[in-house]
Amino acid sequence: MSTATTGSPARDGEPVTGGPADSPFVRACWRRPVPHTPVWFMRQAGRSLPEYREIRAEVGMLDSCRSPELVTEITLQPVRRHGVDAAILFSDIVVPLTAAGVDLDIVPGTGPVVAEPVRTLGEVDRIRPITAADVSYVDEAVRMLVAELGQTPLIGFAGAPFTLASYLVEGGPSRTHSRTKALMYGAPQVWHALCARLAEITLEFLLVQVRAGVSAVQLFDSWAGALSEADYRRFVMPHSSVVLAGLADTGVPRIHFGVGTAELLAAMGEAGADVVGVDWRTPLDAATVRIGPDRAVQGNLDPCLLFAPWPVIETEVRRILTQGQVAPGHVFNLGHGVLPETDPDVLTRVAALVHEASAR
Ligand code: CP3
Repeated sequence: MSTATTGSPARDGEPVTGGPADSPFVRACWRRPVPHTPVWFMRQAGRSLPEYREIRAEVGMLDSCRSPELVTEITLQPVRRHGVDAAILFSDIVVPLTAAGVDLDIVPGTGPVVAEPVRTLGEVDRIRPITAADVSYVDEAVRMLVAELGQTPLIGFAGAPFTLASYLVEGGPSRTHSRTKALMYGAPQVWHALCARLAEITLEFLLVQVRAGVSAVQLFDSWAGALSEADYRRFVMPHSSVVLAGLADTGVPRIHFGVGTAELLAAMGEAGADVVGVDWRTPLDAATVRIGPDRAVQGNLDPCLLFAPWPVIETEVRRILTQGQVAPGHVFNLGHGVLPETDPDVLTRVAALVHEASAR
């Protein structure tokens, strides 16, 4: 068994041989030559898979995330089925918040719901920093997975401060993020205190995963697209940068993703990403112009396209592969997560097509 953290990044200019650090996925993240374009799907662990639903029928979402055995099984399911180039840890962005003492639940069909929303300095203070011991089940699950996965890299992840703050301030999912923005504009000192605490928790949560052997990390700032570039740079980027900078010396690539972020792509790269995730609204060649030559891109098939007839899907996959060639590195993915109604066989077919059409 080789661990993922031993590889030296492209910055060192040293070749890495063997193990997940030399896999097509990690190589593409470092903008190195690859035998084929690597592919994985956001939210591939679960949701659309019947074998996942069977497991989850008896266990709540947060309880499954705290069981290393269940996490290992669910994480492996899409790798077995689809032949993807990377596994993503089965967990949720709110898991470290529960470890920090926040009372919340994940309500099926709704998402995270927080018992007592956080809107004052006193409420921020009650969110405590976490230690590795608070999330020992994640450490254990990653170690089990790394042993099972062999050459296949495991992606660790966390939610970025803005997206986590949105759930905490709103008390649950929000279309407009109006209370979040009210706090940001109206009480900036509370806002920055909240995001600073969330950055601290997020960094520790990711470092636990890196120490346990993940080969890459993805920072999900799913809802950052709600902000203008100026507000993103002022209120959000400094906190995401703390997280990404804290991972700079770990030797694993950092993917930074959000939805509706066409105007934010350059800033999200500058925040400290090695790979910038792009949703379906921006073609990858245009995204590359915005992001620049020093970072790879990830994306960007519209998840809704998976409901189209196969010839339509095939045309779109080939278009994305062609546009992705303009980037210094390309990881094929959806522009956002797999929708639960997606036919898993279509995902398998897309993964095979990406491999076949991009083989060099
Ligand atoms: O590939 C994977 O599934 C890996 C695990 C994963 C989950 N959540 C499991 C999950 C990952 C990477 C996430 C991240 C996550 N969670 C994000 C960022 C990614 C994105 O899509 O933008 C966000 C915003 C959340 C918060 C959250 N958790 C939402 C919005 C929901 C969906 C509610 C629903 O029912 O659709 C959840 C619940 C959740 N997290 C599920 C899964 C598999 C569904 C729970 C279930 O099966 O009952």
